[in-house]
Amino acid sequence: MPRSKPLPTLILLLLSAVSHFAFALPSFEGLSERDFEDYIASRQTADTQVADPPPPPGPLAFSGSKLVYDPAHPWIAPQAGDIRGPCPALNTLANHGYLPRDGIATPTQLINGVQEGLNLENAVAIFVTYAAMLVDGNLLTNKISIGRKSPKTGPDPPLPATAGGLSTPGLGPEGDASLTRGDAALGDNDSFDQILFDQFIDFSNRHGGGYYNLTVAAELRWARIQQSIATNPTFSFVAPRYFTAYAESALIINAFVDGRNTSRHLSIADATSFIKSNQFPQGFFRAPQPIGNDGAAQIFGAHQIPPGSNTNGVNTYTPDPNSANLAQFCLMYEHFVERSVKRLYPNPTAIQGWLYGGAALRAALMRVRIDALRGIYV
Ligand code: HEM
Repeated sequence: MPRSKPLPTLILLLLSAVSHFAFALPSFEGLSERDFEDYIASRQTADTQVADPPPPPGPLAFSGSKLVYDPAHPWIAPQAGDIRGPCPALNTLANHGYLPRDGIATPTQLINGVQEGLNLENAVAIFVTYAAMLVDGNLLTNKISIGRKSPKTGPDPPLPATAGGLSTPGLGPEGDASLTRGDAALGDNDSFDQILFDQFIDFSNRHGGGYYNLTVAAELRWARIQQSIATNPTFSFVAPRYFTAYAESALIINAFVDGRNTSRHLSIADATSFIKSNQFPQGFFRAPQPIGNDGAAQIFGAHQIPPGSNTNGVNTYTPDPNSANLAQFCLMYEHFVERSVKRLYPNPTAIQGWLYGGAALRAALMRVRIDALRGIYV
């Protein structure tokens, strides 16, 4: 984003300060620019001010392993009204105070939390967070729920945007064939599922000698895809879900194995702590260097399946040549914008630059945010 904003943009952002919609806005037609700004200023109060979101945080100053289950970050079970969702990592970070304990966060808080608590690599943290924010977050208030939709993220942007939270299926990272959550079409897609976790343990015993490793990850990922094909009439396994499914299978190893353990396999006890209890194992050290989705390609390579979906009920999996595959990252991003973002913000003014990284996504986020504001105020 350029530092100096053109005036209309500035006005739109200032207008966002008047973001309590209980009153009808007067027509601004005929107002001089000065009158208009005076009007905006008159409506601003400290708690209605909506600032231009800050640039994303940079990498950690110290990015090595360290104790993260420390006295400053005790585990506290979620209280009534606190939100948890489909991501065991974010749930755990919220339970330890690396994220707001109520489960409502800004992108900056999310990026800082996943970096500080689990050493997620800066570019990955920015990309995943901003992409999720674009489709699941509230672009007016700059807040996102790490689970289901919540009034705590503030007044909604105009329809068809939903600000539905990270549990929203089919738009961002959330989708079918999760390892420990059901498919949305089959019921609950964001709560921990004990039966699926029993299967996780069974696979770890049978294929990993009591540990979750890359071999287990490959077998379990494949099994979950086969189960969804056989049970979910609307099973969908296209980008971006196609990408996140393999990445998540690998992240369980990269993030949840203690940073002092060089074996890169996860004990069932530690998997249970993270995935079921959403708690760091006692004395947990984060990874020894910033992590990404290393291993995802091997998991995919063991049992390859093209992106696709059940097109006519269960067991009708049909490849979708229009979906990006794992080698087509830029196409995945393009589809994400064209299909997911534009479903919510049909006419974003200037989303372009299919570049990997925070800059393009932040620019996209800002443009869509401005459109959300325009949808309300102009
Ligand atoms: C260190 C950082 C992270 C780790 C280790 C991690 C790990 C995981 C894992 C293992 C799953 C799969 C759960 C399952 O299949 O049962 C998952 C799911 C998910 N994560 Fe994360 N995650 C991280 C960061 C994030 C971030 C930054 C976001 C978004 C802002 C996010 C959003 C999600 C969502 C929406 C799902 C549900 C996907 C599904 O349908 O299975 N995660 N995550």
